[in-house]
Amino acid sequence: MTTEASSCEGTASGKVILFGEHAVVYAVPGIAAGIDRGARAKATRAASGERSSLLMSGRTLTPDEDSDHARAFRALLTVEPSCMGVHVEASADVPPGGGLGCSAALGVAIARAVESATFGDTPDEARVLERALAWERVFHGNPSGIDTAAAIAGTFLLYERGAGTKPLTPPYDVWLAVGYSGASASTKQMVEGIARIKDRNPDLFDKFLSGVRAIVENARLALEAGDGRALGQLMDMNQMLLAGVLLSTEAIEKMCAIARSTGALGAKLTGSGGGGSVIALGGICPRGERRSAAEELAVRIAAAWSDAGFAAFPTRIHGSHNDGATSLESPGQ
Ligand code: PMV
Repeated sequence: MTTEASSCEGTASGKVILFGEHAVVYAVPGIAAGIDRGARAKATRAASGERSSLLMSGRTLTPDEDSDHARAFRALLTVEPSCMGVHVEASADVPPGGGLGCSAALGVAIARAVESATFGDTPDEARVLERALAWERVFHGNPSGIDTAAAIAGTFLLYERGAGTKPLTPPYDVWLAVGYSGASASTKQMVEGIARIKDRNPDLFDKFLSGVRAIVENARLALEAGDGRALGQLMDMNQMLLAGVLLSTEAIEKMCAIARSTGALGAKLTGSGGGGSVIALGGICPRGERRSAAEELAVRIAAAWSDAGFAAFPTRIHGSHNDGATSLESPGQ
């Protein structure tokens, strides 16, 4: 975050959910990680009497308008009302609806910029979280909070709704290929679809939750031990469970197959499913290592996806990005 004379900038990470999407809504722990791409926002104080505004994707809106973004902006601002208005410009470099936490990253970046412009240079992180969750609820109805937690933390984290966020600090970096299936999905609709499966078939749903819980616990251990093979197998298992509750698509399955035949240690959808993005594991390497086999494989998988017509990029998730000292209390809802 940087501050100029009267303009304050906020940034936030996009995210991948490594394990546990959807189950996190029902308080099963999940593992997510911030990625290098994300969102940034710049806020300046409005002149006295001027209304607040938000400029995004070439369009300026005010908080009293009737659109989701205007409502979300209003919700974010009214968490801590101020007599001063703010002009905000925001942009993201992760695709909206791509399962990479675009809206949460925007919410956190805007919240950070607004906090700094309104109250000074060092934003109050608890209020940033509250503002960003208020923004996110407008889009997702019943968000677990994992996207917002990852956008704030920017590193590996274990998230449990109602219990908060614990940074995971393995001394390893993880290399992934991230690819877009070509269809965006509405997280809200996918979450509602899962709620219907829960109502119609509670036994199947309980098995889904207990399966995911076991996978997440083992994945945490594999990550701490730097065991890439185990981590990849657990990703494949998580994908099977997600497909079992109808979250996979033909394109997602095709991408998983391409990744595995290119040598990926594991592959799965990430985020809401029904479209969105897929992640594939290139491997794990010691923190900061250059030109690792894990990186080469992630690059090859991303290239194989691109050749098949899926937009893709390799990304490194940095281990021990922070020292693990901070534990953000995240209420989810
Ligand atoms: O599709 P995304 O990136 O918004 O991820 C949603 C994750 C879910 O677990 C499906 C929903 C939630 O609120 O946690």
